[in-house]
Amino acid sequence: MKPLFLAPMAGITDKPFRQMVRKFGKQTLFTEMVGVESLLRSHPVTKKMMQVADEENIVVQLVGPDAVHVAQAAKIAEDMGIRAIDINMGCPVKKLISNYSGAKLMLEPERAADIVNTVSNAVNIPVSVKMRLGWDEKRQNAIEFARLMFQSGASRLTVHGRTKDQGYSG
Ligand SMILES: Cc1cc2nc3c(=O)[nH]c(=O)nc-3n(C[C@H](O)[C@H](O)[C@H](O)COP(=O)(O)O)c2cc1C
Repeated sequence: MKPLFLAPMAGITDKPFRQMVRKFGKQTLFTEMVGVESLLRSHPVTKKMMQVADEENIVVQLVGPDAVHVAQAAKIAEDMGIRAIDINMGCPVKKLISNYSGAKLMLEPERAADIVNTVSNAVNIPVSVKMRLGWDEKRQNAIEFARLMFQSGASRLTVHGRTKDQGYSG
């Protein structure tokens, strides 16, 4: 994979956006985050987000609470020829954190480790994790969490250098 990455951004790093960015080089691009539960229910919008077979250097970012389901989605991505899988453990959106996914996984390290472990065992492509500094100012567990993710099979981490409570500023 190329060492220059464009950050995944829901609602922004969609296919047309990636096509424009691609004109500037072969950097590694991420899909928008793909909700595993809706993907497995064949939701048309989510399925469309996975149409990346014609793209080079692309990482699919998955988000979901259930290790087996995330692994199933990762396998679908691998079978489409994707080079790597990223698992979102940083999104602060209520719908996700109320369902044990996104940034909530930083409060649930065992569940997070199980997801990474199950996905790593299910696919032959690299698995990475996108995380934050922690949940809030008092609960900043990035170092222990990062170690656990590597022990569980992650080969790379990206850290959004804010807590979940900080959202996107500060
Ligand atoms: C509009 C928007 C959407 C984002 N969506 C995602 C996402 O789907 N997955 C993810 O891992 N990070 C997402 N992020 C976080 C970015 O990838 C990045 O880690 C974060 O903005 C930190 O970079 P900055 O300090 O330059 O803002 C999003 C950020 C923005 C601003």
